[in-house]
Amino acid sequence: MRMYDLIMKKRNGYEHSKEEIRYIIEGFTKGEIPDYQMSAWLMSVYYKGMTGEETLELTNAMADSGDRLDLSRIKGIKVDKHSTGGVGDKTTFIVAPILASLGVPMAKMSGRGLGHTGGTIDKLEAIKGFNVAISEDLFINNVNNIKLSLVGQTGNLAPADKKIYALRDVTATVDSIPLIASSIMSKKLAAGADVIVLDVKCGSGAFMQDEVSAKELARTMVDIGNGAGRKTYGIITDMNEPLGCKVGNALEVYEACEVLKLKNLEKIDYGIKRLLEVSLTLAAYMLMGAKNQSIKTDDFNDKDNKALTYEEARRLCEEALTSGKALDKFAEFVAAQGGDADMIYNPDLLPKAKYIVPVYMEKEGYVASCKTSEVGMVNLILGGGRETKESKIDLAVGIDIRKHIGDFVKGDEVFAYIHADDEGVIEEAKKRLVAAYKLSDERTFPEKIIKGIIE
Ligand code: URA
Repeated sequence: MRMYDLIMKKRNGYEHSKEEIRYIIEGFTKGEIPDYQMSAWLMSVYYKGMTGEETLELTNAMADSGDRLDLSRIKGIKVDKHSTGGVGDKTTFIVAPILASLGVPMAKMSGRGLGHTGGTIDKLEAIKGFNVAISEDLFINNVNNIKLSLVGQTGNLAPADKKIYALRDVTATVDSIPLIASSIMSKKLAAGADVIVLDVKCGSGAFMQDEVSAKELARTMVDIGNGAGRKTYGIITDMNEPLGCKVGNALEVYEACEVLKLKNLEKIDYGIKRLLEVSLTLAAYMLMGAKNQSIKTDDFNDKDNKALTYEEARRLCEEALTSGKALDKFAEFVAAQGGDADMIYNPDLLPKAKYIVPVYMEKEGYVASCKTSEVGMVNLILGGGRETKESKIDLAVGIDIRKHIGDFVKGDEVFAYIHADDEGVIEEAKKRLVAAYKLSDERTFPEKIIKGIIE
């Protein structure tokens, strides 16, 4: 086989065999295929696309390029979730303890933030003492004992993806659905869970800005997951404004704790309602997937052996939340990784910024739209995000948004609060935040938070 011929084959729109895909991925990972040929092949994929079979083989080949996490020492059906990246997305801190409190094991590897999107691992580091780099043994033991552990990505998981992504980043080939889907799913498959729920964000703060491409990405990833023998669901969620009210590392942990403390799910602020809806939808699909797979594999300590409907799973997740069990589980998980669990019960103990400054809009009107990625950029300006992988971040800073799409903002009403440590960046942050929103005399209604489910 010659890489030259394979580039030409894809360039001319033909389908690769499994052997050809393995040849490309293995050759590139070993350094036998040079960057210039791989770049040409990636561009051919960008223009000509890939069939479902090609995309599945590409994903498996990338997952096989390094270690696969061995979760066999964990009892039961393991679940995982993945978000394609948004602003203010703290759902993991709500979903994971809900599931763990219901006895569903979650052994999760998460990433750090880059650019306008935040990272779960950074957010957890806002909790004093929390260790995101515990040993594999402790990771496994914690999942067996308390059903939840969460660490930063370690080991040699899907190294082919790392190398290919670096090339895509500099050759304008990132935004290709088969390449994005295989990149995300290769890491998820290597991370070992049996049930995977994907939160595919859609809108002005997401990779996929329109619903058609978000659905196509979700469909492609769900087909890969199911094709690889993992029960996979894709939930398409709105990212046309930040999720919830708070953006920033400690602020997002704070807001997750507020949700975990809810006793009544009826009378809540609209921003929190959207966050809650995404969290409960993800949690219910994960629970339903785990329970129903466990019946198939007879691998759960199920006494009733009865499949769950979505509605039943949802009700169980709501009860786990309102009973306070999920909050206790979150505190238990934090303590098991060396963190200060008092911060979970009393989030006012989380790191606080020096300055908390109100932001007002320049005119009155209804909030009509938001350029969500710009809100993420405001967090970056404040020091809460990373411009490069090496940047240090300030865990205390961020934005607390008080108005959402469809709300009326009076001239003297606080629109948001900026939390800053560096006085010198406050004015720029305020300006960028105001400019991120459009106000209108006519009321526009927000997009539905759940835009579709792909099974
Ligand atoms: N996230 C990934 O891991 N890979 C992509 O290609 C895009 C987003």
